[in-house]
Amino acid sequence: MGKPVSKHSNPKNAAEALNAWLPAYRERIEAALDAILPDPETLPFDLHAAMRYAVLGGGKRLRPVLVYATGAALKLDYRQLDGPAVAVELIHAYSLVHDDLPAMDDDDLRRGRPTCHKAFDEATAILVGDALQTLAFRSLAEGDAANADAEARLRMIASLSLASGSRGMVGGQAMDLASEGRELTLAELEDLHIHKTGALIRASVMLGALCRPDIDRELLERLDRYAKCIGLAFQIHGDILDVEGSTEELGKTSGADARHAKATYPGLLGLAESREHAELLVERALDALSPFDGDADCLRALARYIVERRH
Ligand code: IPE
Ligand code: IPE
Ligand code: MG
Ligand code: MG
Repeated sequence: MGKPVSKHSNPKNAAEALNAWLPAYRERIEAALDAILPDPETLPFDLHAAMRYAVLGGGKRLRPVLVYATGAALKLDYRQLDGPAVAVELIHAYSLVHDDLPAMDDDDLRRGRPTCHKAFDEATAILVGDALQTLAFRSLAEGDAANADAEARLRMIASLSLASGSRGMVGGQAMDLASEGRELTLAELEDLHIHKTGALIRASVMLGALCRPDIDRELLERLDRYAKCIGLAFQIHGDILDVEGSTEELGKTSGADARHAKATYPGLLGLAESREHAELLVERALDALSPFDGDADCLRALARYIVERRH
């Protein structure tokens, strides 16, 4: 499974280390997403074409990769993980389509291409989000025959719905919109990020872990701690990239947070302190993985990658 990654590895090594896993995981998720999305020749044609446009051909696939990497750390067969991996990416893709709508962030560019409502129209983009969300839960309910038993599936469905809804991602989106033009305290901003972005990243690890129903409680808690730390670090780094990255590099319009007067970590703490905070969270995430063997090295490399990525 590739070379072990020390927690002191430098940025280049962490990014390179991921090459041992990422191509295979990405190939797997692309094929699984393609298989579950309705054929564009199926009615209604425009809706299905727009669903495929929003999901396929772009994106880092971090959340499904986390599902596979958690499964690897728990020595699971990848075939068990396709259903949950698809489910988290479909929820994520839906959240991006709605996030870009004029009523929300009003963005024209996503993953280097026109946003869904620009390539199609607003009503179609709303319906794309609705349909991707329900398809995500079908993926958990109907996954591969080799998948977990009925009780484990129910726990995954409960976990993903909690993470996606008003007490998770959607709640975070509401907080994000309400924060525009307001100065938040650090605690309020952390709460916003934990919901908006952290919840789905946490669910990605949790779904992978739930594929092993007999998992030791202590290990489950450690995986959850890892996920909470990288989820927050991911959004802090995302805020930094919005300031430092170019539109070309990001594949979405940089500087959008400032344009909308969003509450962000660099806005509140400055860039240097935000970076330090994200680094500290990554160190905590790596500490949480200490009882795991080399099969958790992809999770370790992902933690570093999250604060080193350029997009
Ligand atoms: C962007 O997520 C939106 C957030 C939740 C912060 P990603 O940076 O994972 O977006 P893609 O999937 O790679 O396009
Ligand atoms: C998107 O957050 C979060 C969700 C879609 C849940 P942002 O609005 O901060 O991210 P970008 O910059 O559009 O990717
Ligand atoms: Mg937003
Ligand atoms: Mg946005």
